[in-house]
This record gives sequence, structure tokens and C-alpha cells, in this order.
Amino acid sequence: MSRRRQIYEGKAKILYEGPEPGTIIQYFKDDATAFNAQKKGTINGKGVINNRISEYVFTRLSHIGIPTHFIRRLNMREQLVRQVEIVPIEVIVRNVAAGSICTRLGLEEGEPLPHTLIEYCYKDDALGDPLVGEEHIACFNWASQDEMQDISSMAIRINDFLCGMFAAIDIRLIDFKLEFGRMYDGDFSRIILADEISPDGCRLWDMKTNEKLDKDRFRRDLGGEEEAYQEVARRLGILGNEDNGPGEVFDLSAHRGKLRETKPKK
Ligand code: TMP
Repeated sequence: MSRRRQIYEGKAKILYEGPEPGTIIQYFKDDATAFNAQKKGTINGKGVINNRISEYVFTRLSHIGIPTHFIRRLNMREQLVRQVEIVPIEVIVRNVAAGSICTRLGLEEGEPLPHTLIEYCYKDDALGDPLVGEEHIACFNWASQDEMQDISSMAIRINDFLCGMFAAIDIRLIDFKLEFGRMYDGDFSRIILADEISPDGCRLWDMKTNEKLDKDRFRRDLGGEEEAYQEVARRLGILGNEDNGPGEVFDLSAHRGKLRETKPKK
């Protein structure tokens, strides 16, 4: 059996060299961390569920015109993705006050925000992923102004789409984290959505009971994290249904053409 070259091991995923240049295999672990890895544990089966949830979400997002790194799911814990240069910024989108914004600004958890907020954190665990402004991002050249324009407009579209997608299954999208990457094409690069979207990086509350269906169950020692992740997958209709096959291969170049030529339908 051929040995794959490991490129990077993160807190929740391992990246391996892909079968072709410009591709990467993303392996989803059961490991869970919180508070910049000060708290560590495992959630049984999390990797399998997050692989499926992220596949589902990225495939749906590609259908509304969001360019993503996702190519296809390979097996229970792995997906093939495009290699990108990660922009060292965590993009946090918030609809309802929860987590760090409550501590920082003295808000009550569950309070809807007057409007959707986008926050940026500099990706550096040793520094505790500090909150930064667009001024810092420009000053230290973490991303260009054009790239930030793409990132913020995609983040808003993703939020609008995901709010609706989760509302349809009685889940309120409180907040979530996105990561973007640069895909190089000769001398040009473009920003595409990378990483994953799963209950690890989203706050998802049951619409009726406000029950938490995300990693806050682990962060706050609430228990029942396996069941919560499974419940999200079940409501999305992607659990115990092995026949629905991997998400579609997404051809970015065809998509880009379509984006430019097609007039908005509504
Ligand atoms: P926060 O309230 O801790 O700032 O988190 C906001 C959202 O972003 C929450 O859904 C969890 C997610 N998040 C991550 O996925 N990774 C991180 O490193 C941080 C800080 C937050």
C-alpha cells in the first residue's frame, strides 16, 4: 500500500497530499478542542459526521455560486479538496449574541443582534486568535482590500443561505466561523471558501427549545455531544442514508463562467 505524505495535522483534521497536484485529502478526526486547545477531548464519531455535514453544506453553497475548495467525499472520514493558501483570518459571522462577544461586550446570550456582525480574528493559537480589524488585516498584509471585499460579501451570502437552510430544519444559526483560501491560477489568485462547516464551528440551537446542537456541549461540559451532532445530520437528512452518494465534483472554471454570464434570476 502506498504511504501518503502528511502535510499538516491540525486540531480536528489531518491534511495529506492529494492524488493530483493542487489537491489535498482532508481527514476528519474525532478530536475536539476548545479555548485554543487548552481543553482537549474526543467526540466519538464526530469526524464521520462532520465530513458528511461539511460535504453537504459545501455542495449546497456551490450550487448558489460560492466557490469552495470541496471536490468530493472519498470515504467516511476523508474528502478531496483543492489546495489553497489559507488566509490567516477566522471570519466569524454572528446573528445572535453568544460566546466570546457576550464576555467582551457584556451582552446576554441569546439576544438577537441589531444586525448581522462580521468579526475577524488573526489565526494564531499561541496568541489566542485575537480579534482584529480590517485596518490590521491591511496593515500586516494578511489579505488585500479586494480579497476582503470578496470575503465579506461571500460571508454574508453564506449566512443568508445557511440561516434559511437551518431554519427549514428548526435550527437557529446563532454564529459560525469561516476560513478562506487563495487558489492560484498562473499569476492570478482568487478567494474560495475552505476548511469545513460543521457543528464544530457553528452555534446551532433548536428553534423551539434552544437546546444547543453544537460544540458548546463539549466546551461547556453539557454532555450529549455525539447525539447533538447526529441530530443535526439526521435533520439535514444525511445520516444512515449511505446511498445518497458523495457530493458532486465541482468545476470551478465552468462555474466562474456561469457566474459572469448569467443574469440574476430574481
Ligand atoms: P466565539 O464566540 O468563541 O468567538 O465563537 C464564535 C463562533 O466561531 C462559534 O460558532 C465557534 C466558532 N469558532 C471556531 O470555530 N473556532 C475558533 O477558534 C473560534 C474562536 C470560534
